Amino acid sequence: MNTMEINKIVAGVICAVLLVVVVGKVGSALVSPEELEAPVYPFSEDVMAGANAPAAAPAEPAGPEPILAMLASADMGEGEKVFKKCASCHDVEKGGPNKTGPNLYGIVGAAFAHKDDFSYSDGMANHGGTWGFEELNEFLYKPRDYIDGTKMSFGGLKKAEDRAAVIAWLNTKSDNPVALPDPAAVEAAQAAEEAVDEAAEAVEETVDDAAAAVEGAVEEAGDAVDAATAQ
Ligand code: HEC
Repeated sequence: MNTMEINKIVAGVICAVLLVVVVGKVGSALVSPEELEAPVYPFSEDVMAGANAPAAAPAEPAGPEPILAMLASADMGEGEKVFKKCASCHDVEKGGPNKTGPNLYGIVGAAFAHKDDFSYSDGMANHGGTWGFEELNEFLYKPRDYIDGTKMSFGGLKKAEDRAAVIAWLNTKSDNPVALPDPAAVEAAQAAEEAVDEAAEAVEETVDDAAAAVEGAVEEAGDAVDAATAQ
């Protein structure tokens, strides 16, 4: 091997080393890691706990348990018994008098504040609409919550069976009893409602996840652009 060839090899090695050094310098000049003052993603025990916690349990449905499906099989004797709690204030016979409360003959399906000769509270008088099974269910559950400033000083019937029984019985005290809902139809309607709620929740979750992913990607892209333009 002559000196010329050795020189070429040495020059080649030097060039290779130079190239590595230059590329390294240029590379780190282009993308220099920068210490962030604060983490981009706030990290704390709380956040992690929150992230892993199951979605807040669905709030207890405010208000009374539904009774529609119970009406058809309600016990009339039981309804008459429950009405004893109302009888001190309400007469329920046709043409009977108003007492502390209005006469309730034909109340199911009647208009709110159905008696012209009774002096109702403003809340009741101005409510509008008719007393269907569901309205009565809500009113009898907690009268004061349902009608603002109602004159009916009665705590309410907390048991769904009691409300169903007295409402079904009141319905018989009428020239035109309202047809009781078919329990099978009520259950089908409830099942359909639940399915719709579940589907809506699933859609919401998917949208939330997608939004979080997009947000993360945008943030990362922004950081990369910042890093590239900072040079
Ligand atoms: C302490 C007396 C009292 C008791 C007990 C009572 N009520 Fe009443 N009720 C009233 C008064 C007073 C009103 C009128 C309320 C108003 O104007 O806000 C009323 C109104 C009503 C109305 C609305 C009537 C309409 O014309 O719109 C219904 C329905 C009713 N009561 C059902 C019942 C039932 C059923 C019970 C028993 C579970 C009951 N009430 C117990 C006093 C009473």
